[in-house]
Amino acid sequence: MKIAIVGGGGREHALAWKIKQSPLCDNLFCLPGNAGTAEIATNIDISAEDLDGVVGFCKEKAIDLVAIGPENPLADGIVDRLSEVGIKAFGPSKKAAQLEASKSFTKDFLKKYNIPTAEYETFTSFEDAKAYIEKKGAPIVVKADGLAAGKGVTVAKTKEEAIKALKSIFIEKRFGEAGNRVVIEEFLEGEEASFLVFSDGENILPMIAAQDHKPIYNNDEGPNTGGMGSYAPAPIVDENLKQYIIDNIMKKAIDGMKKEEAPYKGVLYAGLMIKDKKPYVLEFNCRFGDPETQAILPLLKSDIVQIMLATIEGNLNKYSLSWKEGYAVGVVLASGGYPLSYEKGKPIIGLDKIVELDDVIVFHAGTKLKDGQILTNGGRVLNVVGMDKDFRTAQEKAYNAIKFIHFDRMHYRTDIGNKAYKYL
Ligand SMILES: Nc1ncnc2c1ncn2[C@@H]1O[C@H](COP(=O)(O)OP(=O)(O)O)[C@@H](O)[C@H]1O
Ligand SMILES: [Mg+2]
Repeated sequence: MKIAIVGGGGREHALAWKIKQSPLCDNLFCLPGNAGTAEIATNIDISAEDLDGVVGFCKEKAIDLVAIGPENPLADGIVDRLSEVGIKAFGPSKKAAQLEASKSFTKDFLKKYNIPTAEYETFTSFEDAKAYIEKKGAPIVVKADGLAAGKGVTVAKTKEEAIKALKSIFIEKRFGEAGNRVVIEEFLEGEEASFLVFSDGENILPMIAAQDHKPIYNNDEGPNTGGMGSYAPAPIVDENLKQYIIDNIMKKAIDGMKKEEAPYKGVLYAGLMIKDKKPYVLEFNCRFGDPETQAILPLLKSDIVQIMLATIEGNLNKYSLSWKEGYAVGVVLASGGYPLSYEKGKPIIGLDKIVELDDVIVFHAGTKLKDGQILTNGGRVLNVVGMDKDFRTAQEKAYNAIKFIHFDRMHYRTDIGNKAYKYL
């Protein structure tokens, strides 16, 4: 089969790495890909957000299967567009992608189908929202309704902070149309986990639970980023909790979307807050997580292409997922200045040394190849993943490998995975 991956981050390199191992994959393209995908696939210089470009390329090359990484093209209807021209596309339709693209849609959906989530109200006016915050007090969480590249949520410790967030959304229009509505919700104290399933609209196949690390510094301090590291399986989700999440969240969501006449196909990702051993949905994402995917896929034994085809064809019930024993811990190496402004184009050295290490994979995120040299090309540059049957050894393998890698002003968290120890 000819397969194309849309996107160019760490998640897409992990997808390319996994898809490439399938006996069903003859030819692999990445649109646009990065220096890592260039080693295993053909990069095509078309942006993930250029729907005409993506559809045109896939038609011209008679691509058999397209896997979409990021949320924006999904929310813009890339799967509908590809399906219309007879190309199999892995991911939800535009209608189903609302589960990520509109937080107010999702909160109403969760309430309607009795899926556990924080109490909330939705507002379209600054004055009404402000009055609600005055009434409820802090801590409180303010969320822009639409896609905001992970920057639309403020967990406010004071009323003043919440009102400031509200002003930036409604009055300063920081997120444009994505801020036409605001969800204000109850603050939930607890620990987060990411739970992803494959779904064909009816059946689900759960993946192993993972945990992301959003803040830039150790101990979850500093501003949020796209994610500074991840590990899987996350032992906070034990067998009981896993079954509860499957029955009370994931299955209910898939059944609900079917009832809403927006059957959900692809990967459904629940961002959960675990409070007193009970999970609450903070949000859904309509795609693989980045950086969770970089820790999940190295442990997946099953053929991902077969699973992707089954989600599209609606026969996921014929398959199961099998997993390698042990853990994967992935650490993100970021550019100096990230998550604020950062420089690009710094040479990366030491990647050749990693190839010789056992149980270590480096997934590229913001990298590019220029005149045979690999340069930094984004805020998150590399994901270094260590694997082992023992959690601590997996973590050590990742951090030992990082010692070989260097680029100017490279920085990373040194505590990725530490949260797991209390459950091991
Ligand atoms: N109700 C809540 N209580 C506590 N923290 C929350 C709540 N909702 C969101 N958060 C925090 O804010 C982060 C971002 O919120 P989320 O809904 O996942 O939006 P997005 O990923 O689109 O920015 C979460 O990962 C979590 O840390
Ligand atoms: Mg989130």
